[in-house]
Amino acid sequence: MNGKENINQETGVKLATTLIKVSLLFVLAGCIGVMVLLEENGMFGTDETVLKQVSDGEPLAKQHVSKAIKSDWIAPDTSTILSDATGHQIRYGRDLIAHTSVYFGPKGIVGRLTNGMNCQNCHNDAGRKIWALNYSAVASTYPQFKARSNKVVSIADRINGCFQRSLNGEKLDTATKEMQAMIAYMKWLGKDVSKGIKPDKNAVEKLAFLDRAASLQNGRIAYTNLCMSCHGKNGEGKMNDAGNEYAFPPLWGQHSYNDGAGLYRISNFAGFVKNNMPFGTSYEHPFLSDEEAWDVAAFVNSQPRPHKDQSMDWKDISKKPVDFPFGPYKDKFSEVQHKYGPFKPIVKNL
Ligand code: HEC
Ligand code: HEC
Repeated sequence: MNGKENINQETGVKLATTLIKVSLLFVLAGCIGVMVLLEENGMFGTDETVLKQVSDGEPLAKQHVSKAIKSDWIAPDTSTILSDATGHQIRYGRDLIAHTSVYFGPKGIVGRLTNGMNCQNCHNDAGRKIWALNYSAVASTYPQFKARSNKVVSIADRINGCFQRSLNGEKLDTATKEMQAMIAYMKWLGKDVSKGIKPDKNAVEKLAFLDRAASLQNGRIAYTNLCMSCHGKNGEGKMNDAGNEYAFPPLWGQHSYNDGAGLYRISNFAGFVKNNMPFGTSYEHPFLSDEEAWDVAAFVNSQPRPHKDQSMDWKDISKKPVDFPFGPYKDKFSEVQHKYGPFKPIVKNL
């Protein structure tokens, strides 16, 4: 056996795996389509089934149900938004989340405050999708104390956090009708969630830590095979034809989120892509293995992006998340280990 054959074989196998994965994705997309249709036609009447079981007096089923009712959240149906003034405001808020760039991007019609990404690029389906940074817990848990800023943060403050970090831009004035509309939309999404309750599956899934550091080499391979076709050779993404928002948002480079953003922590990135990428993936039908998710997260976040001065963040350094990539830390682990892992030794040390 010579080395070259080996490599050729390996590439062959990789290519075959990729092809299989890609074809599976199409099958998957088909299934999702059918499921959505069934769901819309009320074929998955979980609530009715559950209620019937309860009235039939099945204790186990009942336990199962009360848990589901307490913590699960299904985004309210947008067709139920009224056509009065409040309904109009909620719809405007939704549009601002879905097409932020049209309003506030480099060619924004209201202001030019952001890098051209849409909130929805990360808060998928305008903040309605489970395990895709949905807004189910916003109305119920804000205002809340945040260790990062060491103060109590309102919904508007939190939105501005994403304006300045994820959208690498400027703050939006809290009094504007745009800010008020986004808040109204988030309150509407959370209208059935009681104060203080944080529904399940509301941010990103917390994947188990690997026993090793995330691998930039494996991550680059995963990126090339599974992400590059949409997000571009240099992570630059692709604009739509009108040039006012992205068809495929950037993952690094000057138009991407900055290094103060939530996705810059690889646990957040890995959890997000595990259940949502390649586009069309869901929690019910994930595509990447946990290892691929961690590795591709590390690779993407090893690439250049805008820098944010974070010297005022984390007054209490003991509160920094384990994968926060900038020191100083209370422990003796390096910035590199805090960025890429292995995380288990750090956690054990806490
Ligand atoms: C690049 C991805 C990205 C984009 C774009 C983005 N966000 Fe976020 N957002 C996040 C992440 C990640 C978190 C969670 C961060 C954390 O808690 O560490 C978050 C959290 C939030 C939260 C708090 C949710 C909660 O339950 O605590 C709100 C509200 C929010 N974003 C609003 C917005 C709005 C409005 C926009 C658009 C103006 C936006 N975001 C754009 C990634 C993004
Ligand atoms: C079929 C095209 C496609 C593929 C393949 C794909 N994505 Fe995406 N990705 C999208 C689209 C479209 C969005 C924006 C979703 C929206 O706005 O609803 C997105 C959004 C994202 C985001 C959040 C927004 C941002 O730009 O930061 C991340 C992170 C991401 N993708 C990572 C990945 C990774 C990693 C892979 C490979 C494992 C991947 N994607 C594969 C289409 C794709």
